[in-house]
Amino acid sequence: LTASLPVITIDGSSGAGKGTLTARLAKLLDYQILDSGAVYRIVGLAAHQAGLLTDNIDETALADLTQSLKIEFAAAKADSEHVTVLVNANDVSEVIRTEEVGNFASKVAVFPKVRQALLELQKNMATSQGNPKKGLIADGRDMGTVVFPDATLKVYLVASSEARAARRVSQLTHAGKQADFDEILAQIIARDERDSTRSASPAKAADDAIVIDSSAIDAEQVFNQVWQLCVERGLTI
Ligand code: DC
Repeated sequence: LTASLPVITIDGSSGAGKGTLTARLAKLLDYQILDSGAVYRIVGLAAHQAGLLTDNIDETALADLTQSLKIEFAAAKADSEHVTVLVNANDVSEVIRTEEVGNFASKVAVFPKVRQALLELQKNMATSQGNPKKGLIADGRDMGTVVFPDATLKVYLVASSEARAARRVSQLTHAGKQADFDEILAQIIARDERDSTRSASPAKAADDAIVIDSSAIDAEQVFNQVWQLCVERGLTI
């Protein structure tokens, strides 16, 4: 028998702190993580490798490619802030994290057929058959609006472009990489524009989502607010 599991959705733009919040909640609640951005990144990378990201993208070919990928999630490695993602059994957890692949992801994500092809994989993770844990915490852009409209708790995290660019710069600098604030800010603005103005599942808060602005508060304060909501909705017992 397949049972539906409790679902928490964490939507919002890149760099608003979804990943950090999701990882911490998943650990405390013993929930599986669905990093839907990683799924779109995988499709973006595969499309790029297949030479499909031309000026005139073939939506059907892209949807076929999407269908053909075997995408799996495994537990995060101890030294990583991200869940482990496998494509056709290869670990791509790290290679999909670049800005370049983020842009590929944002390009393929505008196509309804691609989104449709990924729907079942995502929904299945909220069932006992597709998920060994007690529940699911799904982060992305349309988790609360399209994929899991009946989620128990929906959070929508926002932050100013400047705050997000500053965080990204500090992440990259900490990792010993080069980072130019203005360049990153421009990328963030361009990606937000594409993600929020596309017609297929644009990034927006569900009517029943709790919107939290993390521009001026730190990850700890965001976590505390959301944990309080988890308590109120009976998710912590
Ligand atoms: O959250 P992220 O930066 O890893 O997401 C990468 C891209 O994937 C983002 O620009 C938009 C797209 N995406 C989406 O369209 N729907 C989702 N649920 C998650 C991500």
